Amino acid sequence: MAEPSRKSARVIAVANQKGGVGKTTTAINLATAMAATKKSVLIIDLDPQGNASTGLGVDRGAREVNSYHVMIGEAALADAVIETAIPRLHLVPSGVDLSGAEIELVTFERREHRLAEALAGTLSAYDYVLIDCPPSLNLLTLNALVAAQAVMVPLQCEFFALEGVSHLIKTIERVRQAFNPGLELQGIILTMFDKRNNLSDQVAADVRDYFGDKVYKTVIPRNVRVSEAPSHGKPVLLYDMKCSGAEAYIHLASEVLKRERELRA
Ligand SMILES: Nc1ncnc2c1ncn2[C@@H]1O[C@H](COP(=O)(O)OP(=O)(O)OP(=O)(O)O)[C@@H](O)[C@H]1O
Ligand SMILES: [Mg+2]
Repeated sequence: MAEPSRKSARVIAVANQKGGVGKTTTAINLATAMAATKKSVLIIDLDPQGNASTGLGVDRGAREVNSYHVMIGEAALADAVIETAIPRLHLVPSGVDLSGAEIELVTFERREHRLAEALAGTLSAYDYVLIDCPPSLNLLTLNALVAAQAVMVPLQCEFFALEGVSHLIKTIERVRQAFNPGLELQGIILTMFDKRNNLSDQVAADVRDYFGDKVYKTVIPRNVRVSEAPSHGKPVLLYDMKCSGAEAYIHLASEVLKRERELRA
């Protein structure tokens, strides 16, 4: 059957309120691997830290119109989109002002729907939109969960991983009830897996017990090349295509795309 000519992007929020678990690394590298398979992908950097923007080599001068302006309605989303060095991968960068957006938005009507409404006109331009969330369950993350069709949760293989995620799952449930009934849990990605550490194995086993096949088979190993890549402004797939971290993200992308095809079949 022919592809329908008018596509509408699948919108996926990459979220976990715990800091430093691999949200940004996953957003950048999954998006890059998807773009390499001819998908057109937009990353929205919704974190005032701007790590996705930096990690894609976009310097501050190129972030004049950014997700802050989109959130407060000063710019259309399409006007904040910039190209990256990677073909078919676009970015809405973040700006430092975004950290104040939460306070500004309090007085806005439908403040949880700002991003969803801003995205509506742009969905036909992309196959996937990945939203890189801040490490918090604040109004920015809430906007991402209202705008998204699915949530992807990176989980670092360490001791309190499951406790943190149960809070996120409750939040997803509340968002479903109040704003976005169709929101799905797309999947859980085990990150920074250290095969020399027995605890990593134990945590991975516990997470798989609890979430079953929602956990991707692909596990992202702890790999120093992954942590070096952002300082070069490159996804690890470009920085060192053959390292274990890059290979894992390529596998993850094919697993995600396969799951997507099954969901839509
Ligand atoms: N597989 C990996 N191997 C080694 N280092 C990694 C790996 N994944 C991420 N890192 C490093 O760990 C740190 C945290 O990762 P990242 O920024 O992706 O997490 P985050 O969840 O987005 O953090 P934040 O909550 O601050 O936004 C970064 O320095 C990153 O380079
Ligand atoms: Mg981040």
